[in-house]
Amino acid sequence: LGNGLASTPPMGWNSWNHFNCMIDEKVIRETGTPFLSDAMISTGLAKLGYNFVNIDDCWAEISRDDKGYLVPKKDTFPSGMKALADYVHSKGLKLGIYTDAGFFTCSKKMPGSLGHEEHDAKTFASWGIDYLKYDNCNTDGSKPTLRYPVMTRALMNAGRPIFFSLCEWGDMHPATWGFNVGNSWRTTNDISDNWDSMVSRADQNEVYAEYARPGGWNDPDMLEVGNGGMTKDEYIAHFSIWAISKAPLLIGCDVRNITKDVMEIIANKEVIAVNQDKLGVQAKKVRMEGDLEVWAGPLSNYRVAVLLFNRGAIRTAISAYWDDIGIPPSSSAIARDLWEHKTLKPRFVGNLTATVDSHACKMYILKPVS
Ligand code: GLA
Repeated sequence: LGNGLASTPPMGWNSWNHFNCMIDEKVIRETGTPFLSDAMISTGLAKLGYNFVNIDDCWAEISRDDKGYLVPKKDTFPSGMKALADYVHSKGLKLGIYTDAGFFTCSKKMPGSLGHEEHDAKTFASWGIDYLKYDNCNTDGSKPTLRYPVMTRALMNAGRPIFFSLCEWGDMHPATWGFNVGNSWRTTNDISDNWDSMVSRADQNEVYAEYARPGGWNDPDMLEVGNGGMTKDEYIAHFSIWAISKAPLLIGCDVRNITKDVMEIIANKEVIAVNQDKLGVQAKKVRMEGDLEVWAGPLSNYRVAVLLFNRGAIRTAISAYWDDIGIPPSSSAIARDLWEHKTLKPRFVGNLTATVDSHACKMYILKPVS
């Protein structure tokens, strides 16, 4: 969407994957703190680029007020959204909110914005909201291609740049029309915190690689890293695939209680830099042999991001061939291992081969040298 936002995929946090409807202003306020603090690592997540704090479903009363305004839930958000936005902004972060292109949101615990788009967009802008996730439940049955652009126009008229995240879960292939309507669009149903769910979201999202570019991104749903349902290697694969696929990096765990292992994953600067590379080209699967896959995509300065991905049960060697990943066959290349944080000694010619554990990956940046 040409609103000047999303030149790179958004980064931040969202309440849904961990908290579902159990949210209140305390959780949102407290979430701001570890984002800024360097208790866990010397830099802090905010400094790494995670700047959105996004409230998902269940923040509003079930009824609008008599003037038609959405009302933040009195028992969980008593200070209101303007105060919360001011607080989040005072920490240098941005506040996101959620509503739905239907009569009620997916939880059915709050109203949707269908028929109230102008009013709600203005309300969000007046509160200081920076990001809107727009869901697709409990609609009037009309096509999302009719309902979503109404909110696009309302946001454009609201007088504040608001990142617009389309949460149409892929039914009408939003990748094919999303770029003119929003800054990101879902390509899949909801993720759950397990391996099969994660890899199937990755696969479904990959199909639409051609549609992602600066201004609008494919969204295979939010990160589950840190919620406990996968092994560390599996979470590394999850984070690596999301990063190389230029997916939004929206942390979905409780960042107030984060382990060292989880921090090591979501705070990997080198992997984040692949996601945020200014070229903005989503990687694709360039070779598949049974459970073994090579994903690759170009980066700025003639570099290539490569993922060797072992979906199977047996530790196996995987090769990325220059022919497959867009490096001239006779070139040699320097390889940087983004999880070992090491530049590998040999120069590689023709291919890079490495042994990859079960349900794990290796991720590199290759730079051709003459
Ligand atoms: C849908 C969305 C989820 C979440 C829930 C909230 O399922 O896809 O990401 O926002 O609604 O009810």
